Amino acid sequence: MNPRSTCIGAAQRGVSNTVLLVLIVVVAVVAAAVTGLLMNIFERKQEAAASYTQLVEVTEDTTDAAKWGVNWPKQYGSYLLTAQATRTRFGGHGGSEALPEEKIERDPWLKRMFLGYAFSIDYRDRRGHAFMLADQEQTERLTKPQTGSCLHCHASIMPLYRSLGDGDAMKGFAESYKFSYKDLNAKLHASGHAHPVSCVDCHDPKTMQLRVTRPGFIQGIQALATSEAAVPHLPSIERWRASSRAKPYEPNTDASRTEMRSYVCGQCHVEYYCSSQMPLTFPWGKGLRAGDQEKFWNEVKFASGERFFDYKHAETGAPILKAQHPEFELWSQGVHARSGVSCADCHMPYGRDGATKVTDHWVRSPLLNVSRACQTCHKQSETEIKARVDQIQTRNFELMQRGGVAIVALIDAINAARKDGAAPEQLRAAQELQRQAQWRLDFIAAENSMGFHAPQEAAMVLGEALDYARQGELAAASWRSPQAKPVAAAAAVAPVAPVKKP
Ligand code: HEC
Ligand code: HEC
Ligand code: HEC
Ligand code: HEC
Ligand code: HEC
Repeated sequence: MNPRSTCIGAAQRGVSNTVLLVLIVVVAVVAAAVTGLLMNIFERKQEAAASYTQLVEVTEDTTDAAKWGVNWPKQYGSYLLTAQATRTRFGGHGGSEALPEEKIERDPWLKRMFLGYAFSIDYRDRRGHAFMLADQEQTERLTKPQTGSCLHCHASIMPLYRSLGDGDAMKGFAESYKFSYKDLNAKLHASGHAHPVSCVDCHDPKTMQLRVTRPGFIQGIQALATSEAAVPHLPSIERWRASSRAKPYEPNTDASRTEMRSYVCGQCHVEYYCSSQMPLTFPWGKGLRAGDQEKFWNEVKFASGERFFDYKHAETGAPILKAQHPEFELWSQGVHARSGVSCADCHMPYGRDGATKVTDHWVRSPLLNVSRACQTCHKQSETEIKARVDQIQTRNFELMQRGGVAIVALIDAINAARKDGAAPEQLRAAQELQRQAQWRLDFIAAENSMGFHAPQEAAMVLGEALDYARQGELAAASWRSPQAKPVAAAAAVAPVAPVKKP
């Protein structure tokens, strides 16, 4: 026998033994892993089942979140935290104060540009969801008559809409603007549904699926679907557009889960019309950008035939459009929306409870929660992430302050021209430019992320605001010039046409 071969043989036997041993270990590990996995799946199924075992029955009429809290204590527990005081540099002024700070005192140009409108009386920082109904009930803006439409976004209103519409919420909604705020709010309290946004507003009580309930949103998103506006961030609308369109776009069945995670917020965090001339309207029929919405409003006419406006400026008489919190709209123009990152990803991130993922229902500034809100996707340190946000917000803030100076200069210029004897028609161009400038400046000022949701879009809108404000100042000054064309001609100052693609 060749000792070498024995040697090789022994070595081979050694290898085989090792392989065998390794195999046994691998099989054991795999078996353990599979068992573990099965147990895990089993546990999760149990958990899922448990989370849908209703200890208390909840229905379409259960607006009291505490009842839902019996079935889903973790989500309810975090929902209650929206009553906590929070603060960041530009956002999150939640809570402990009797009332949040006045925006119009902090930025006096805001007050000046709202003269003639209730927002010049009282306009504060927002705070947590827990306060939404109470804060609305105590705003001094109610010293001017307001309509029942206000409640669409500040209360768990669906049962009341159904009762106003004999079971049909859309019909009830269509009636609701005819009520005064006072009367509809009294009905709300009498009906027992005087709660802030509640579980039933975002969840189907039978399945817990996310869903939208608000008529204003459903009509608005349907109008957006039928428009030609580009919506690469909303693929379900693009799919619907390419289909037969036999039925209107229906967010609750057509939209993806990712889209629903933003749609639920789009029920309220949007620009709207809310007064006594027509039902609450989301101006999305031409698209979501500031310029698209302006075009939409410009084509709306009052019953009198007059072009739509929210108020006439008390000093200049300009027919002004007031912008309100267009978070959904600005988000739609940013890189996060484009990348499928939803409102809930940042404002309601997952937390862990043992092996289960629980959605954090403490809706608040993500800067208070960077590890879960941002670091799931961004690997930079918390300090670095916060610094990047701060840089975006500070630049936006500074450009916005410049816009504030410019709008005040325009208002002053119109006042001076009138004092010096300019005729009303000689001021029309300047007034029109005030409408255009103020709409844009307010769009970014009223949006609550201080530019973060779409920094480049915010800068563009502010740039346009500055341009229109200064053009308006020139128009107001030009009436004296002998060779000046009748200033009305300049009123045709069209929005700058978009650059044509080659
Ligand atoms: C990529 C993350 C991200 C996404 C997605 C996002 N936001 Fe934000 N949002 C932020 C940040 C960051 C701020 C600034 C917070 C601050 O200044 O404290 C902010 C601010 C806000 C604020 C003001 C918060 C406060 O504390 O005052 C609101 C309201 C808001 N977002 C709503 C929305 C809505 C509605 C959507 C979806 C349409 C959305 N956000 C999508 C990150 C996000
Ligand atoms: C039914 C309407 C409604 C819905 C739906 C809604 N919000 Fe709000 N949200 C409000 C109102 C109203 C306030 C201001 C409350 C106040 O200041 O009293 C607010 C405040 C906030 C704030 C400021 C919180 C703070 O502490 O300062 C954030 C952030 C916010 N909402 C994000 C969201 C996100 C994200 C969604 C979707 C998951 C959402 N909201 C859904 C109406 C709504
Ligand atoms: C389309 C939804 C919607 C409608 C309709 C609506 N709100 Fe709000 N409201 C919000 C959201 C979202 C916030 C939080 C963001 C902010 O403050 O900018 C808010 C904040 C507020 C606040 C707290 C901050 C502030 O502005 O002082 C008050 C008060 C308020 N609304 C009153 C009203 C009144 C009065 C009406 C009717 C004229 C009304 N709201 C109609 C969505 C709505
Ligand atoms: C403004 C909308 C909104 C409101 C109000 C709301 N939720 Fe949610 N909820 C969400 C979102 C968004 C998710 C994430 C769902 C997803 O991604 O499928 C969620 C998820 C859940 C889930 C699934 C498990 C989990 O944690 O992800 C449960 C259960 C739940 N919510 C319970 C509640 C309860 C109970 C209330 C009332 C106390 C409530 N929700 C109020 C938006 C809301
Ligand atoms: C679900 C993933 C996801 C989450 C959560 C997320 N981001 Fe992003 N973020 C992205 C993607 C994707 C981009 C686009 C850049 C790219 O494609 O690499 C981006 C881009 C950015 C940018 C650069 C673009 C810009 O708008 O200037 C900043 C800043 C940023 N994110 C900050 C944040 C902050 C702050 C948070 C938390 C509040 C956050 N992100 C949460 C995925 C995410």
